[in-house]
Amino acid sequence: MSEQNQTLFERFGKSFTAGTVLFREGDNGKEMYVVQSGKVRISKVVRDVEKTLVELGAGEFFGEMSILNDKPRSANATVVDDSKLLVIDPKTFEAMVRGNAEIAIRIIKMLSKRLEEADKQIENLMLKDHNSRVVHFLGHASKTAKQVPGGFLINMTAADIAAKVGLDLAKVDEVIQKLVRAKLASNDPAGLVVGDANKLREFLEFLEMKEKFGDI
Ligand code: CMP
Repeated sequence: MSEQNQTLFERFGKSFTAGTVLFREGDNGKEMYVVQSGKVRISKVVRDVEKTLVELGAGEFFGEMSILNDKPRSANATVVDDSKLLVIDPKTFEAMVRGNAEIAIRIIKMLSKRLEEADKQIENLMLKDHNSRVVHFLGHASKTAKQVPGGFLINMTAADIAAKVGLDLAKVDEVIQKLVRAKLASNDPAGLVVGDANKLREFLEFLEMKEKFGDI
């Protein structure tokens, strides 16, 4: 931990063990959190099923919406791995932003990244058939994935992908098997290796044609 982080931790830091529910959707929000280490899941319950919106790690923050908009919590926050978090009250948050333009810029950048992510999810949810949803998601994920022999390694399980695109695991598995058969993906102990984004886009176009004209 840097000296600056050490001082911040002494003032605002708290340690939380895995499994701790920090807050639930609808609660009143009185503070925001900055992750110093560990992992926190942001989720929503949709028709009795808990869906993960995002998992946040070191350097990321959450819980700012309630204190900025004076609204109840928009989602649940649960500690996934033992975590050290800065817990910051609204007055301190405002003072930090007013006193340090660097912090304000970091927050704006992170919020626009979050909006970009949410836009991608909306685009994905607009696709009707489950094949397209999975392929579209993998195409985006491959752009930031590590290049390995045979393609790009997407460090996620089929269950992680299912949670991201809002489909059942069985449906996601079915699409992955199709991609493997079409030699556009291969299974790897660390996740899924997919071909480049162009190949996936071509496959997506093929699926869109099928959606438009049916199987002829
Ligand atoms: P708040 O509404 O106070 O509590 C839930 C928090 O989850 C919210 O503030 C945001 O910080 C965070 N959050 C909500 N939706 C998303 C999202 N789509 N991506 C990342 N974080 C989110």
